[in-house]
Amino acid sequence: MPRRIIGLTQKIEYLASRSKLIYWAASLYYRNVIQGEIDLANITRDDHILCIGGGICPFSAILFHQITGAKVTVIDNCEDCIEEAQQVIARLGLSEYVHAVWQDGGNREFSFSDFSVVHFALQVFPMEGIVSNVKKQILPGTKLLVRRPKKCLSIMYSQLSGSSLACCRYITHQKACNIGSTLLYIKQERAHEKKLAIPSGAVAARSVDSAVSFPCPVAV
Ligand SMILES: C[S@@+](CC[C@H](N)C(=O)[O-])C[C@H]1O[C@@H](n2cnc3c(N)ncnc32)[C@H](O)[C@@H]1O
Repeated sequence: MPRRIIGLTQKIEYLASRSKLIYWAASLYYRNVIQGEIDLANITRDDHILCIGGGICPFSAILFHQITGAKVTVIDNCEDCIEEAQQVIARLGLSEYVHAVWQDGGNREFSFSDFSVVHFALQVFPMEGIVSNVKKQILPGTKLLVRRPKKCLSIMYSQLSGSSLACCRYITHQKACNIGSTLLYIKQERAHEKKLAIPSGAVAARSVDSAVSFPCPVAV
């Protein structure tokens, strides 16, 4: 099922890469989601963001840069998608700030420690293994933003167990059709990871005390 949803999204993104109107409409869909994620993780222009799973139209990567000014690297394990993505980025005049690279998010040799924020697209597969590998590789203080589907659509996406990102803060996306929430995990200095201490009120995000409290159950 996850592979089928990736194929469908890629078709929509192919159309968006060829039509300014479709690109604009799809980009509008992502804008609220991205703004919420930026506020949740307090992303600034000094961050270097890695987006895992950019597709043909890396809307998220582009909007992260356009809204914050941060440098963004976006990877995808589909070579054709990356070639298309590079053209979309070039057409927008953003090649200096947004780099699209052919790479699998599960590659253990990839230098995840170069980034201060790692963002996971909803369709990343297999989510559990990649999140677990990235958590090991990143430096303390690095933030992970992990999108999760709406509960009714969870069967269509790669699963993530509750224990992988327990005690995370999260934001819910009421207006998005398939993205239910984004979880924020910050790697702590010590091996024992404490609950996050993000000032409350800064964003419309709530903290949860255990995995079972996630807005969309992450273990099915
Ligand atoms: C269709 S995109 C959606 C992202 C959307 N364009 C955005 O800007 O947020 C999802 C992409 O994730 C990619 N993907 C899935 N699993 C991946 C992995 N393990 N490593 C890298 N890319 C992956 C798929 O190839 C697909 O192109």
